[in-house]
Amino acid sequence: MSEELVRELIARPPMVRELPGFDAGRAPEEPAPLFVEWLRGALAAEVPDAQVVTLSTVDPEGMPDARVLVLRDVDPARSGWVFWADADSPKGRQLAAGPRAAMTVYWPQLGRQVRVRGAVRSAPAPAALTRSPGARAASLVGRQSEPLGSAAEYDAAFTAALAADPALPVPGHTVYTLEAATVEFWQGDPSRRHVRLRYERSASGWSRTLLWP
Ligand SMILES: Cc1cc2nc3c(=O)[nH]c(=O)nc-3n(C[C@H](O)[C@H](O)[C@H](O)COP(=O)(O)O)c2cc1C
Repeated sequence: MSEELVRELIARPPMVRELPGFDAGRAPEEPAPLFVEWLRGALAAEVPDAQVVTLSTVDPEGMPDARVLVLRDVDPARSGWVFWADADSPKGRQLAAGPRAAMTVYWPQLGRQVRVRGAVRSAPAPAALTRSPGARAASLVGRQSEPLGSAAEYDAAFTAALAADPALPVPGHTVYTLEAATVEFWQGDPSRRHVRLRYERSASGWSRTLLWP
């Protein structure tokens, strides 16, 4: 253990800066609108890559796995968080074997964390999309996380991918929706009076509970 590193980390406590407040008493009945409000706040505050989230899954042996990916949409009707990924990848296979996941995002400039857990539904990208002009970008997927032969091989596939419309799922990608069972909003406070609000879905709708921070 490096004493110098330990000292440096102690000297840098997180969230010691001005942060927004969060009045949990005025939170909406469902979590998706609050998430969108916080995401819009993060975009307005120019948090870099505010739409990048961490997706956690578990492999068939029960070993947890996590990686970051881009959040593509939030569907309030399903309380669903949408992302695109290659079904033929470790995460795709983990989701096929056990279609449940957790998604986490932290926006440092605002001291805000959101945690979403639930079931994951998948839908193949619509057929029309697979005939898009970016179809050659398919060469980028179907091989994710496999060993790469050479940098040049990747460069060629990447150049082709650049031609694709970024608003459309990459051909070959699956559209996944994480349907929330619980969503926790966490607002950090520089004086450590953090606020945590958990939404829980039941047959009769959503309930809200304040948690000890
Ligand atoms: C900023 C950023 C954005 C990413 N966006 C995605 C994405 O939208 N979909 C995706 O499948 N992988 C995305 N990745 C790559 C994943 O983090 C991961 O490396 C890849 O999906 C392989 O994961 P797996 O081996 O667990 O299947 C992104 C990586 C970074 C750093």
